[in-house]
Amino acid sequence: TSQWAMRHGAHQGKTHGKHLRVHYHGHSLMRLSPARSADLPALHQLLLDLNIDVWSVRDGHVDVRAADAHALKAALHRYMPSVRARTLVADIETQLLAHHWRAMDTRVSAKSSVAAQLHDPKTWFSEYHDLDEIYEWYQLLAAAHKDRVTLTRNVGTTHEGREIMALRFTNPVSANANTTLPKKQIYVQGGIHAREWIGHATTQYIAYHLATSDDKKITSLLDEAEVVIVPVLNPDGYVYTWNGDRLWRKNRRADARGAFGVDLNRNYPTHWGEAGSSKFPYSDTYMGPSAGSEPEVQASMAVFNSLPRVVAALDLHAYSQLILRPVGWTRKDPTHEAQHAAVGAAMARIIKNVHGKDYISEKEIDLYPVSGGATDWWYEQSRPLKNLLGNKGVQVEEEEAMKKHKKPLPPGHGTIVRPYSYTIELRPSSEWWGPGFVLDKREIIPTGEEILPAFLYYARTAIENV
Ligand code: ARG
Ligand code: ZN
Repeated sequence: TSQWAMRHGAHQGKTHGKHLRVHYHGHSLMRLSPARSADLPALHQLLLDLNIDVWSVRDGHVDVRAADAHALKAALHRYMPSVRARTLVADIETQLLAHHWRAMDTRVSAKSSVAAQLHDPKTWFSEYHDLDEIYEWYQLLAAAHKDRVTLTRNVGTTHEGREIMALRFTNPVSANANTTLPKKQIYVQGGIHAREWIGHATTQYIAYHLATSDDKKITSLLDEAEVVIVPVLNPDGYVYTWNGDRLWRKNRRADARGAFGVDLNRNYPTHWGEAGSSKFPYSDTYMGPSAGSEPEVQASMAVFNSLPRVVAALDLHAYSQLILRPVGWTRKDPTHEAQHAAVGAAMARIIKNVHGKDYISEKEIDLYPVSGGATDWWYEQSRPLKNLLGNKGVQVEEEEAMKKHKKPLPPGHGTIVRPYSYTIELRPSSEWWGPGFVLDKREIIPTGEEILPAFLYYARTAIENV
């Protein structure tokens, strides 16, 4: 047992899933299909107003968890009678969760230490890991690859006092490097939503390959750029999915009335409190008491703001198999829509080539509106071009613009850059039988295998085009 594990009380009688406080007997997974796809936004808004937990939106339907299927059907009948409702999973507790927790009992990690698994990715990625295991694993990974990895243990502290960690991956600058410019930066975030376990696992998969691989695509990326990863943005929520409620999404802010949790992906200071978030503290999409109120969001912003040359950001979520590009708060296309759409489509093609999975590339708002979302905030954080190219480079760009347009660029124009910014919703798709957030552990490795090359393409495109 490492020092890290001792300090954090790991291995002290693990009781995963045994003393859960929240159960889902009688809750069903229902598929809601409006007669016309034009009715989807209205349906989504209605579900938000009814405080229904939305699991997936894909292919013209919305899959939701219904605590009371009859009540939901009655409400739909009253407000949107054209919506068809079908039951996909009649009892979430027995059909999805019971099997899932049984599989936890036979985890290798119950017997074998994290250190023993560090150089055995096949074993490590064959199961899900709790927070102590994940944090210990990142510590050991950084320690074993000091040349490439730097770990910062506390870029923030949560409501329950847990540390939020960040890692930086890059190769030392070699004497014969063909450029003297400082390296561009890529930001990756995982685990903003607690129950989306494949997001935490896929972030580890990317981190593992960045730290250990000799593949030319990875070594050249680390020669030219820095990748900064916040691997578990919402550790309190993640711990709670292991010991309290497997389907918890938010952080664990406790308010005076006993309501818990802010949806961190509605709390960023960008159009905060507008469409697509809830003012109601019990809602799964609660926006929080004020913009940027949550320590996890503040940590994420601080790490991002510490990157003067950031050219791309990525947020890993689950599920539905979607590649989402900015923005989520307005229907109006951002300036870079054409580039964004092309990069999203290319990532989808790369993913499909690996295991044949269909990921849909679309604009966030075309899924549903969100305000206060991470990816919209990242996209808004412009950087002066001179950070990336130096004053000389900016001068060259301005001279070229002068030649082309016969007049100087307006102040600030052409001299600022915006990072690419995407959300990927990982596996599963939206299958008729579930399993939603309770994705089988045997899918961790295939998911990593399809996402890693898409990520490498994304990072490469960003460093060459921004
Ligand atoms: N499913 C994630 C969430 O609800 C990502 C949403 C992406 N943004 C959007 N505008 N649809 O937080
Ligand atoms: Zn999510």
